[in-house]
Order: sequence, then C-alpha cells, then structure tokens
Amino acid sequence: MSTKVTVGTSTKLSGETGLFFTAYKTNKNKKDVLLKGLPKAIADKVKSLYGDDFKSEASETFVMRAANLEGFRNIVLCGLGNASAVTGETVRRAAGTLSRDLNLKTKSVSTNFENLTAFNRDKALGVMSFTEGSVLGSYKFDELKSKNKSEDKNPEGTNITIVCKNKTEQSVADKAVMRAQTIAEAINFARYLGDMPGNLMTPAILASETVKAAKGTSLKVTVWDQARCEKEKMGNFVGVAKGSNEPCKFIIMEYKGTGAKGKPVCFVGKGLTFDSGGVSIKPSAGMEEMKYDMCGGAGVIATMVALAKLKSKVHAIAFVPATENMQNGWANKPGDVTTARNGKTTEVNNTDAEGRLILSDALVIASEHNPAFIVDAATLTGAMQIALGDMHTGYFTTSNKMKKAVEAAAQATDESVWQMPLVKEHMDDMKGTYADLSNIAYTKGAGSAKGAAYLAEFVGEGIPWAHFDIAATAWNIGSRYSYVPKKGASGVMIRTFINLAENWKA
Ligand code: BES
Ligand code: MN
Ligand code: ZN
Repeated sequence: MSTKVTVGTSTKLSGETGLFFTAYKTNKNKKDVLLKGLPKAIADKVKSLYGDDFKSEASETFVMRAANLEGFRNIVLCGLGNASAVTGETVRRAAGTLSRDLNLKTKSVSTNFENLTAFNRDKALGVMSFTEGSVLGSYKFDELKSKNKSEDKNPEGTNITIVCKNKTEQSVADKAVMRAQTIAEAINFARYLGDMPGNLMTPAILASETVKAAKGTSLKVTVWDQARCEKEKMGNFVGVAKGSNEPCKFIIMEYKGTGAKGKPVCFVGKGLTFDSGGVSIKPSAGMEEMKYDMCGGAGVIATMVALAKLKSKVHAIAFVPATENMQNGWANKPGDVTTARNGKTTEVNNTDAEGRLILSDALVIASEHNPAFIVDAATLTGAMQIALGDMHTGYFTTSNKMKKAVEAAAQATDESVWQMPLVKEHMDDMKGTYADLSNIAYTKGAGSAKGAAYLAEFVGEGIPWAHFDIAATAWNIGSRYSYVPKKGASGVMIRTFINLAENWKA
C-alpha cells in the first residue's frame, strides 16, 4: 500500500509522529534555522537540540524518537535548505526522502498546513508537491517476493494527515491533496506495469489491467485483437506481432470530460511488453531490462486514468499497440517488407527497430481522429542514453506551438525535457531501397532523430505532434530523485502529459 495523504481540521496537533519542515536564512555567513509554523513547545525543544547536528539543508532529516512532545511520540524535522530558494521540487524531494529513505516504521504521521506551506510562495503547490513526493516515494515493487514484503510489515501503508486550523487552509489543502494523490497513484500504477516481468505483463495482461484501472471512471476502453488489427490494415504492427506466440492487443482509451470542447488530444504509447530484438537478436547482457519497453504505453495509460479521475475538462484518446518482439517462424526477417495502414511500405532491415513499426500504425489511426495534437511516448532508441543521459527526456517536434506547450508543461510539473533536432535530412535518411522507407538508416549517428523522422511519416499533415523518447529516463533514474525508486520504472513524463492535455489552447 502506498502512502495516503488526508486533510484534517483541528486546532490541536497530536499523533504518533509529528513532521515539521524548516529552512534556513543566511546571516553574515551563518545559517539561521527558521522554525515557522512549529508549535512553540516543539520549536523551543528543537532550538536546544539541533545545535550542530541539524543544518536544515534540503532533504536533511532529524529524528527525535520517543520525544513525547505536544502529544507526539516522535518528532521528525526535515530541512528545505535556503528559504529563498524553496520550490515545489525541493518539497517533493524532501517528502520523497522521508517516504523512500527514512524507515520510520510509523503508521501515522501528522504535519500542519501552516508549517508545511510556510516556505512555499504558492501554498497549493507546497501541499501538492509534498503529497506527490510522499506517495511517489512510498512506491515499492516487492509483490513477487514470497517473504519480507513491505506490506507484511505495514499492511495499511502510512497515513499522513495535513492538519488545517480553519476552512481557508482546508479548502486549499483538500483540492491540492486530491489532485496530487490521484496523479501520484497513476504514476505508481504505471511503475507497477513496467516493473512486472514480461511473462506476467503480456499484451493481454496489459489490456486487462487497463480495463481494470478504468473501472469506476468514465473512460471507455476498447481492445482490438490481432485479427482486428489485420483487418484494420495495421501491417507494420501485425508484422512485429506475428513473430511472437503471445497474441498482440491494440488498446484504445477514450475520455470525454464534461465541458470539453473542440478537437480531441491524442496520446500514443509504445507497449512492447518484451523486446528480444527479434531475428536481429539483442546481446544477452541486460536483455532482462527489455521488459521496460512498454513504459511509454504505461505512461499514456496512466495519463488517461489520471485525467478521468481528475475529471479534467478535456477530450483525450489514447492508443497503445501492445506486443512482444520475438523470433518464432513467422517473425519478420531482415529485408521483409510490411505495409502500414496509410499504405506506406517499409523494409524491415533490422527487426530490433520494432518500436517505430508498431507506433506507425497507431499514429495513422490517431491522425484519423482530427486531433488537436498527438503526443507519443516510447523507449525508442538506446542512442538517447548517449545523447542526453538519464537527466532529460528528449523530445522531437517541428511545431513551435507544441514546443512552447511542452516546455511550459514540463516546467510546471518539474520534469526535465530537452528538444532534439528533427529535420528533412533525417527524414531522407529513412528512405528505403526497395520499399518507400527503411526502418533503419545506413548512415551513422543521430539514431534517435532518425527514429523520430521515421515516425513523422505517419503523422497527418499539419497536426502538431511531439515524440518523447524515454529510453534513458523510463527506469533506473532514482539515484537522482528521492521520490523515484532507485531501480525500476520511473513513471517519467506522466505529470507533464496531464498538464499538457489540460492546458492546450486550441
Ligand atoms: N527498445 C529498444 C530501445 C532501447 C534500447 C531502449 C536500450 C532502452 C534501452 C528499441 O526497440 C531498439 O532496439 N532500438 C534500436 C534501434 C536500432 C536498431 C536502429 C537501438 O536503439 O539499438
Ligand atoms: Mn528493439
Ligand atoms: Zn524496443
């Protein structure tokens, strides 16, 4: 169970563990710890105790067990660093540290609104970031362990109460907590889908998990089987899927929020549940990580679930081609030619460049919905790691409007993106010898841009489109972020996508 944040109203604080935030102000090269919003008795005790042990640096924690102060058994202090530099991300990381790294063994934590928001200029943002960091930081994937599951130790998970002293505080906190808890739970769901191994997260299971997640929302989920995909002329997708004995699924999700006007926004996600490379087989070392090749699809599914649960005023449609990339007797052979739904033919010169093939048909279908924009997310190229490392997600677009919207959404949600080049020359590199296109380029370098250039061939004329290559940021980035598991799926770009859908101006 992940952490649950709730809002309470009381003029008095008490409980098992009291959590308080501090920041510092520099004063003649000395750091003065600021104790805004702490109950006086606790503030006094803290002043006499922290001395040299607690500097209030960002994410620094100070635990007083069995302190028995002001009705709390334990007191936890958490620094936010320099008071003038506190942002949403500072709070998210502090909360992540408390949740992920500090083994408090405590079931109930209370914090007060006044203190929690004392160092953030925007109080709602402070509450949201705290809630996101707490819920995201509590994610653990240990269901496949027969012993020592975290659930056995703390079956209900940790409950954090944000105590408000009046209606004004409560209405800010209620809204912020509800939103952040919904988004963070959707991200944890995407992580779970990614962390599950290939044999337990097949295309069919991914589809049924999607149907299950949509229960109780107004999301409409439709799943096409392989025969339907063939009938729909999705030759590139089916070409990849045929190489596996595990049947493919094409997952369609539609959400129409009340009050949503105009064209729908479309999301496409790569749902490759295991990528062996196919006949162009990958090396054995690290191949187990290719269970994560559906993280783009999981991110898109989670985005849709969150939009529906938030009851956002948008009309959104998502498409997730889900398949394995394997090598049975019907698998693509290098040189095979397949035909996409828009009639374009492709030489499959490397069966390991399968992501672009399955996405191509999905992009054609998305384009047929006359969308306001198309955004796709895919673990498309290993070259992304070389280009940007694991800090930024590279995105490609030729639309200035899209670029502005992406940058604004990423900035608002504290995710790091970097625009990558996508030019006509890259598109020329993807021309085929015998067919219209080749799925790999014969020229060296810019592998990620060439993957994007191939995809561009399947996006309808004039549709603002952005392709996010999450190959380097979809898993194992938790050494940078305390609210992301050290190993495993990160759930990257979901916060950005939700924001993007909600804030797109027609
Ligand atoms: N799923 C991989 C990309 C990938 C590799 C993601 C490593 C994360 C880590 C994709 O299907 C693939 O194999 N791409 C090839 C493309 C190449 C054959 C043009 C690659 O990156 O090597
Ligand atoms: Mn591949
Ligand atoms: Zn792949």
